[in-house]
Amino acid sequence: MSRIAVVPGSFDPVTRGHLDVIERAAHIFDEVHVLVVHNPDKEALLPISQRVSLLEAAIRDAGMPANIIVASWSVGLLVDYCTDVGASVLVKGIRSQVDVAYETPMAIMNRSLAGVETVFLLPDPAHAHVSSSLVRQVAELGGDVSPYVPEAVAKFLRS
Ligand code: PNS
Repeated sequence: MSRIAVVPGSFDPVTRGHLDVIERAAHIFDEVHVLVVHNPDKEALLPISQRVSLLEAAIRDAGMPANIIVASWSVGLLVDYCTDVGASVLVKGIRSQVDVAYETPMAIMNRSLAGVETVFLLPDPAHAHVSSSLVRQVAELGGDVSPYVPEAVAKFLRS
């Protein structure tokens, strides 16, 4: 039986921390769906289609394993997507206790709704301070975000 995992997120934009988690997941699971999800709690910078394109470019440029699929989901529950594609696991990156507190209720709810388990992966601590929201803020104020995002994103934000 092949193990399919979903790595969901806003990815607005994808950061080097996200890529670290995606690559770790791709080495653990048979198939990994990186899913761009609309988060109504956050004001978006990029349209979902652009986030998907940048993720695809970043994953390709990084030479990641071929078992990674990029998709998007904007209507309905995240676990509905998992059921549709036969995924039994969600993967989330955890940078700190703040992330644990944010993710735990969602993990328990997703398990309760559909029996989908959540696996927390720890990215390289070098990415501990990197978040999409800080990247957006630094970029909007004219700062250099290239240390924190893949080259495709840095190039896109410069343009
Ligand atoms: O990158 P983000 O913004 O932290 O990602 C959050 C995201 C999109 C993964 C989260 O908002 C989410 O899981 N949304 C799905 C909505 C859902 O299914 N909610 C009910 C069960 S928790």
